[in-house]
Amino acid sequence: MKEFKDKVAVVTGAASGIGRGLAGQCVKEGMKVVIADIEGARLKETEKELKASGAEVLAVKTDVSKYKDVEALAQKTLDTFGEVHLLFNNAGVQAETSSRKPPWEYTLADWEWVMGVNLWGVIHGIKVFVPIMLGQKTECHIVNTASMAGLITEPQLVIYAVTKSSVIKISEAMYLQLQHRKAKLGVSILCPAFVTSDLGNAARNRPKELQNPAETQAEPEQPSLLNKIRKGNWKTLSPEQCAELVFQCIREDTFYILTDPLIDTLMKQRIDNILKRQSPTLPEF
Ligand SMILES: NC(=O)c1ccc[n+]([C@@H]2O[C@H](COP(=O)([O-])OP(=O)(O)OC[C@H]3O[C@@H](n4cnc5c(N)ncnc54)[C@H](O)[C@@H]3O)[C@@H](O)[C@H]2O)c1
Repeated sequence: MKEFKDKVAVVTGAASGIGRGLAGQCVKEGMKVVIADIEGARLKETEKELKASGAEVLAVKTDVSKYKDVEALAQKTLDTFGEVHLLFNNAGVQAETSSRKPPWEYTLADWEWVMGVNLWGVIHGIKVFVPIMLGQKTECHIVNTASMAGLITEPQLVIYAVTKSSVIKISEAMYLQLQHRKAKLGVSILCPAFVTSDLGNAARNRPKELQNPAETQAEPEQPSLLNKIRKGNWKTLSPEQCAELVFQCIREDTFYILTDPLIDTLMKQRIDNILKRQSPTLPEF
């Protein structure tokens, strides 16, 4: 997809961080933008801010883990703008910020919450929007947000990493299937390393029914196995820088969008272990 002016974009998780940056870039490109988020107050703020620049904006409170919400998001988009050309399946959460545990110690509620938003949210997005986009027969593009965590060996952010590697698999299959069908729908997978955002405070949007009992929430944080990753010379992007990179990649039809070359080092370690039939090692520089 190369032309954005007057086209329609939908951004999930648009009230904060990367999603907010993407919505802002959509407006800069002259697009009409539908912003979707579970956090009503911040969504309204974002709507106000984007409208102030003269953009056509529709805000739809949406919980992407609920299929009906995503169906309603698509319907409201079509009712308002008639078409949809660009979808960012971007909403995401992580449960591991206050307690880094081995896989068997996470509660079922932890698994359910993060899988619901990060994995089912993307599944809902593609189930609802791909048929609409294919039916339009116009140039369209979908960007699914994964993470570097989906590409490297990840011993601690395990639920998060499971969801993100699954989103990469889904996106690869989408890309190849759409190419095979010569569809006008492109796909990219965004794998950020570090972008300034409020992801560390994701629990603010955790539904009551998926909260852990108070005593498990109060557990002290386990020592991190991943400190060495932090020692790398990473560049932390602003959401705006990340969004500019994403649009450049959509224009160039780049599938894998990696925000930092250091991810390559960690990916190579994992692939080397697999190719040499060695056991996993902790990622390090
Ligand atoms: N920031 C980073 O360094 C980084 C790195 C790798 C991947 N990511 C991914 O980028 C995406 C955006 O995260 P961010 O870093 O901007 O964090 P963020 O917390 O600033 O933004 C995430 C947004 O998703 C929304 N959200 C949460 N649950 C939702 C739900 N059920 N339905 C709809 N919206 C929901 C939140 O309200 C928030 O506005 C996520 O998928 C995240 O996993 C971020």
